Amino acid sequence: EKGGYDYFMLKEIAEQPKAVADTLLGRIDGSGSLTLDEVRIPPQVLREVDKVVVVACGTAFHAGLIAKYAIEHWTRIPCEVELASEFRYRDPILDQQTLVIAISQSGETMDTLMAVRHAREQGSRVLAICNTNGSTIPRESDAVLYTHAGPEVAVASTKAFLTQLVACYLVALYLGQVRGTKWGDEIRAVVRDLSSIAGAVEQVLGTMEPVRELARTLASKNTVLFLGRHVGYPVALEGALKLKELAYMHAEGFAAGELKHGPIALIEEDLPVVVVVPSPRGRSVLHDKIVSNIQEIRARGARTIVIAEEGDEAVVPYADHLIRIPVTPTLLQPMVATVPLQVFACELATARGNEVDQPRNLAKSVTVE
Ligand code: M6R
Repeated sequence: EKGGYDYFMLKEIAEQPKAVADTLLGRIDGSGSLTLDEVRIPPQVLREVDKVVVVACGTAFHAGLIAKYAIEHWTRIPCEVELASEFRYRDPILDQQTLVIAISQSGETMDTLMAVRHAREQGSRVLAICNTNGSTIPRESDAVLYTHAGPEVAVASTKAFLTQLVACYLVALYLGQVRGTKWGDEIRAVVRDLSSIAGAVEQVLGTMEPVRELARTLASKNTVLFLGRHVGYPVALEGALKLKELAYMHAEGFAAGELKHGPIALIEEDLPVVVVVPSPRGRSVLHDKIVSNIQEIRARGARTIVIAEEGDEAVVPYADHLIRIPVTPTLLQPMVATVPLQVFACELATARGNEVDQPRNLAKSVTVE
C-alpha cells in the first residue's frame, strides 16, 4: 500500500503534483474563471464580507498564514489568521459580515471544531477547507471546499498542505472575482499560473537528490534555523515544524527582518540556516533585503542553505548550498519552496533512525483540546 516507497510520507510527497491537479480539477472554466458552485455561500453574502478570519492548527495554520497574503492582495478584505486553540478564548470580534475559514486536513481537530462552533454562534459564516469527506468540521460549517489530496496517512502533513494552499488561492481568487476588485486581470493571470503549478511541483521533485545528500550530512546537528520573508516566512515556519516533528531537532522559523531584533544572536559557526528567497522579479526590495540577511548570517559563521529561484544569481556568492526552484509568481512560491523542506525533514528523520510515518508523541488527528 506504500506503492513501493519505504514510507507513506515519501509516497505522499511524490503524489503532490497529482493532488494539486486534482484539487484544481473542475474548478476553473475554459475562460479562466473560477466555478466554485460547491461553495454554497451566496455571492451577495460574499460581496458583503468585511473581514476574513482563518482558524487552523499546525501545518494547516501555516497554509492560513499564506492565505492572508493572497486574500488581502487580491480582495483588499482584511484577513486575520489565528491558531484555533487561541481563537475563542480571547473573545474575538465576529459578526455576520465576517467570513471564517477553517482549514483542517482531517476535519476532526477539536480545537478547530471548537473555533467553528464559536464563530457560528456569533453569526459568522464558516467555510471549511478540508480533505476528509463528511468529517465533522465540514458538517458543522456553512460550506466546504474539499481538497482532493486523497488519504494522507503519514502524521507529517505534506500533500494536504499543498492542496490547502491551492484551496486558499481558489477562495481568495473567487472572492476577488465575485467582488470584482480592480485586480481582475491579475486574477485571470494567476488562475493561468495556478493551472501550471502542478508541473512546477513535479519539476522540483525531480531535483531532490542533492537535498537528501545534504540532509544526511546534517544528521548530527542539534539546531536548524529557517528564515523567510513575505510568504516565505510561513514556509520557514512549516520547514521548522516538519523538522521538529520528524527529526526531533530544535528548529525555528523566523521572519528574516526580525533577525537583528534578537535571533541573530543564535548564529554560530557552522549552524545550518535555511533561507527561503523571494523572487528577484516583482517585489525586488524583499529580495535585496534577504540577500543582505544571508550575507549577515554568513559573516557570523552560519552554513547557509539557500532556496532560490532559477536564474537568481545574486544569492550565489553567499550560498553554501543552493537549492533551485522554478520561477513562480510571488504569491504561489510556497507551492514549490515547501517541497525541498519536506524532503529535507524526511531524510533527516531517516538518517537519525526515527520513525518517519509515526513520530513519537504525535497523532495524525488531534481530537482533544
Ligand atoms: O487535520 P488537521 O489539518 O486539522 O491537523 C492540524 C495539525 O494537527 C497538523 O497539521 C499537524 O501540525 C501535522 N502533524 C503537521 O505535519
